[in-house]
Amino acid sequence: MNLTSGLIDAKTTGPIGWLIFDNQSKLNALSPGMYEDGLEVIQAYEADPAIKVVVMRGAGTRAFISGADITSFNKTRSDPVAAAAAREAPNKLRHKLIHLEKPLIAMIYGYCLGGGLGMALNADMRFASSDSQFSVPAALRGIAYAPEGLKQLVDLVGPSVAKDIMFSARRLKAEEALRVGLINRIVEADQLEAETIAYAEVLAANAPLSMKASKYFINQLGLEQHERDDARMDAMQREAEKSEDFKEATRSFMEKRKPVFIGR
Ligand code: COA
Repeated sequence: MNLTSGLIDAKTTGPIGWLIFDNQSKLNALSPGMYEDGLEVIQAYEADPAIKVVVMRGAGTRAFISGADITSFNKTRSDPVAAAAAREAPNKLRHKLIHLEKPLIAMIYGYCLGGGLGMALNADMRFASSDSQFSVPAALRGIAYAPEGLKQLVDLVGPSVAKDIMFSARRLKAEEALRVGLINRIVEADQLEAETIAYAEVLAANAPLSMKASKYFINQLGLEQHERDDARMDAMQREAEKSEDFKEATRSFMEKRKPVFIGR
């Protein structure tokens, strides 16, 4: 991996690939260069068969991500050309995360704001510390939040809660975030990493083709019927049915042992 920003870290622990936003002096704000490096990391994990699950987090425990780097706004949002160019890398990363063919978990400590919440919405699941806080302060910063990101928010919490979050720009504490469906679980901060790893290891032991198909199908269900790739969905079902892993699952059940999946 050729990471150049100095603000993205990657490490692997067993079957887990970590994507770490490490801009701690700005509470892990998303600065230029981080998106490109993030993409590089995700592409490497995607290509590595030893990586079964990806977890993204902010460095330290004060923040997941405090949003876009406000100090870079003069450069990145000053005119329409600069703004369009500045959107390209975030869009590429967003697309790659959403379509990553492996489970992706966001592990969230502390502040998860603005573009940081947007980043977390790209994950399949969000596990958050009990002191985590969520908001989209666009209405405080004069920003018209991008519709693609809003769609992800609406898909999770529905239009009315999304409007509450956007209009008020208020902070939701972890309990409310859980109640409205923004996050999947709340864990005490000192247990969050261990619980996330334990969960990721459960996924890592499951059949990769099965999870890949579920992720693809669930993403497809968010599209209109005529936009769905029925042929690909059908092919993925056939692929799973014919896979070694399908046979191994049946065999291991008969033999009363745990299956060992190989992803084909
Ligand atoms: N962009 C750039 N720098 C940021 C940042 C951001 N999004 N969020 C925090 N920082 C910087 C602060 O400027 C501060 O830098 P300094 O030490 O050089 O003064 C440092 O991170 C620590 O933040 P601080 O405000 O001192 O911590 P806090 O605990 O009092 O407050 C926040 C934390 C997150 C509530 C507050 O920093 C904040 O409101 N940040 C902006 C959040 C935001 O609007 N994000 C969406 C942008 S569209």
